[in-house]
Parts: sequence; structure tokens; C-alpha cells
Amino acid sequence: MKPVNVGICGLGTVGSGTFNVLTRNNKDINAKAGREIKITHIGARRTREDCDLTGVTVSNDIFAVVNDPNVDILVELIGGTTVAKDLVLQAVRNGKHVVTANKALIAEYGNELFAEAVSNNVTISYEAAVAGGIPIIRSLREGLAANKVEWLAGIINGTGNFILTEMRDKGRQFDDVLKEAQALGYAEADPTFDVEGIDAAHKLVILASIAFGMPLQFDKVFTEGISQIRPEDVAYADELGYRIKHLGITRRLPGKGIELRVHPTMIPQSRLLANVNGVMNAVVVKGDAVGPTLYYGAGAGAEPTASAVISDIVHVSRMVNSSYVSEDATAVPHLGYGEDHLH
Ligand code: HSE
Repeated sequence: MKPVNVGICGLGTVGSGTFNVLTRNNKDINAKAGREIKITHIGARRTREDCDLTGVTVSNDIFAVVNDPNVDILVELIGGTTVAKDLVLQAVRNGKHVVTANKALIAEYGNELFAEAVSNNVTISYEAAVAGGIPIIRSLREGLAANKVEWLAGIINGTGNFILTEMRDKGRQFDDVLKEAQALGYAEADPTFDVEGIDAAHKLVILASIAFGMPLQFDKVFTEGISQIRPEDVAYADELGYRIKHLGITRRLPGKGIELRVHPTMIPQSRLLANVNGVMNAVVVKGDAVGPTLYYGAGAGAEPTASAVISDIVHVSRMVNSSYVSEDATAVPHLGYGEDHLH
């Protein structure tokens, strides 16, 4: 069987992590995909010392990757919603499957992009868009497929959780910890997205769209961040037996609609979510058949996010050039909960 050729646009934290993990674990990954996966083309403004790009075509112009007829899967890791949107649309129109870690793009333009993908008979996969390395998208879509999801709640921004944890454990100042999160590659290019809850809101609408089978409606999320929280707030919460955690919560309100909210929450110290620390994320999903389930893992960082990106590449590789075209990575069925969300 001919190899699956992968083109990667963006060689930043996640791009380099994806390149390095795919290269390092190539043999095992190929075995899982049932065929050879080859990175053939990278689009990036600059190369990196930690990536050995021998034998890979490198273009400064990322659109050269999208227009490369030999690329089967386009991996979008440039971030943002302007050029990235054009890139993904062009890829889809060129008949390429797309893998992306871009939650802003999916949350804000997913409905349009998915429609375009369906009409071009290709898929857009985005496991890495939510909760870093935790396979939460596939768990919701496949693992919990039997269930009517009642609610889900989670810590879905690693930077925010890292800041809150360091403030509590070490009494550090907000800005100081944020700088460290940026240096560690956890934070968004614009860290306002992390600390004002926008990143968590992007992720929450993506989760809700799958959990409840509804269109993506980013503008419907009540959003409050952690930028107003001071070390004293964290210390007082501790004294009272609570931890402050930034949560994304969505639930079905029978007869009313779907609630979507992101805000700091006081959680009793004995609860599982109260003990998720540092850059770790966790999501609790309550299904009517299975009951509550918990998903835990690193929510940001190069290799955890690469792990999720590569899981999509493997998933898509199984169907490239075969007669089977999965709809699961694109179609968001509309079950009729879309119009009356509550804040
Ligand atoms: N800035 C994001 C976070 C990266 O801290 O969670 C992973 O989506």
C-alpha cells in the first residue's frame, strides 16, 4: 500500500512536537495505522534545530503545502482564524483531509468548514483542539456513543490551571506564573485567550457540539476568566475548604436547551476536579447509561498535544485512498437543541 503523505503547516510548539513524535515513534505508529505515514512537506517561516528535516520539502509559503498534489493529509498548526481558515478551506477544496489543533478556528468557523468538507468528501479532525493530549473528542463521539449525555464539566485550559495551582501552592503572583506558562509553550499566542476564558469557551462549544449533537455556537457561551483572581482569593478559598478552579460547564436543561458557561468555581477540596493541578486538564462527562466518567491528562504542551494530532493522522490514514470515507470527523448532527441556549 502506498504511504500516506502528510503536510504540516506551522513548526512552532505543536508543529515541532508533532514532527518529533511522529519521527521518533514512526514504526509503531505505522503499525497502528496499518500503513506507512510520511511527513513529506512542511510549510513554515523558519526551521528549527530540534527537528531534523532531512528529506522533507520545506516551503516558506504554507499554501505550497496545500497545493502540493502529493499531500494526502494537511495538518494545520499555524493557529489563528484568518490565514488558517483560508488554508483549511483551500485544503478541503483540493480534496485533502485536514487535521487541526485550532480550537478558535473550529469553534468560530467549524459549521462552515465542516459543510465544505462534507461536500468535498473529506474530513476535518480536531482531537488536539480540546484538552491537549486527552482523547476527549473520540471518547465523546465513539466511547460514549450509546449515551444521552446529561452534562459535562471540566478544567480545559492548562495555562489557567497552572496559574491557579502555582498561586495556591507557592503564593506566586499571577503575571509571574503567566510568563512561565508562556515560556513553557502552554499559553496561546495571545494569552488573553487563556486568562479571560476565551480559549476554554472555544473548547467548551466544541465539546457541547459533540455531546449534544448541535451546531457550534461560540457566541452563546457565558465567559468569565481568572484575571481578577488574586493570591488572597486562592488562600481564603483554601481556608474554607475549597479550591478555585476555572471550569467549563455544559448541561442539558430538559425543555429549555443547553447551558454553556465558563467561569471560576469554588470546588470542595475532596472532589476530584479540585485535585487536578498544574497544566493537567480533566473532564467529567455524565452519560445516562454509563454514569459519570472522568478523563485526565496534560492539557497543553508540545508532545501531549502532538499525541492528539497524531491520533487524528492515524485515524485518517486508515481511510485515505480507501473506499471508506468516515463522516465522524466532520458531521455534527443537529438534534434540535440549537436555538434556545441559556446563559
Ligand atoms: N493555551 C492552551 C491551554 C493550549 O493552556 O490550555 C492548549 O489548548
